[in-house]
Amino acid sequence: MFRSIRITIAIAAVAGVTIVACTNTTASEKTATSSEIAAAPLDSSALVKRGDYLVNAMGCDDCHSPKTFGPQGPQLIQELRFSGFPQDGKLPPIDAEQVKKGWTLMSPDLTSAVGPWGVSYGANITSDETGIGNWTEEQFLNAIKKGKYKGLDNSRPLLPPMPWFVYKNLNDEDLRAIFAYLKTTKPVKNVPPSPKPISELN
Ligand code: HEC
Repeated sequence: MFRSIRITIAIAAVAGVTIVACTNTTASEKTATSSEIAAAPLDSSALVKRGDYLVNAMGCDDCHSPKTFGPQGPQLIQELRFSGFPQDGKLPPIDAEQVKKGWTLMSPDLTSAVGPWGVSYGANITSDETGIGNWTEEQFLNAIKKGKYKGLDNSRPLLPPMPWFVYKNLNDEDLRAIFAYLKTTKPVKNVPPSPKPISELN
């Protein structure tokens, strides 16, 4: 009798331990993954590496990096990478009538565009203070998830062609990784011009 109770308790204990162990493993694996990433400092090499991978696969260079044109077409100017439309850059004359008829134009290196929203310029997203150097992580997540200039709640909406409404589908870990990587980029001082409404085109 005592013996059978003891056996039952032993079985229950083993079963209990197993169940608890299973639950714990699953739960702690999940929590560990996201909380580890969430807790990883922005300069953690795993985070930066993931951001490097994402930024280099998602085409941020298209609109944020000035380029020259060689025999192979557009080529990145490495020392200006991610610095946006140059602050002293000039646009070719814009045919406002064409734009008003519905055409969208882009400068050859894609760092500026003209469309029904007016003229917009690829932003500086280098680690410089004129880029995202002084931004907090919250600002960056806000900018991409809500499409807000500088990621500030009361700022203007980000203009096309920045595809924030696509990038907002990334999870927070990936957005953090992108931010972590951008923080490691070469700082380039550059303040692209402010956007112009279409009414200011002549
Ligand atoms: C098709 C063009 C295009 C692509 C691709 C693009 N951007 Fe942009 N981005 C822009 C333009 C143009 C602006 C400026 C919009 C404005 O002034 O409202 C901008 C603005 C931003 C801003 C806000 C800057 C600020 O000062 O508020 C961030 C952050 C940003 N882009 C990050 C990225 C990242 C990261 C990628 C790649 C994952 C990327 N962009 C890809 C065109 C693009």
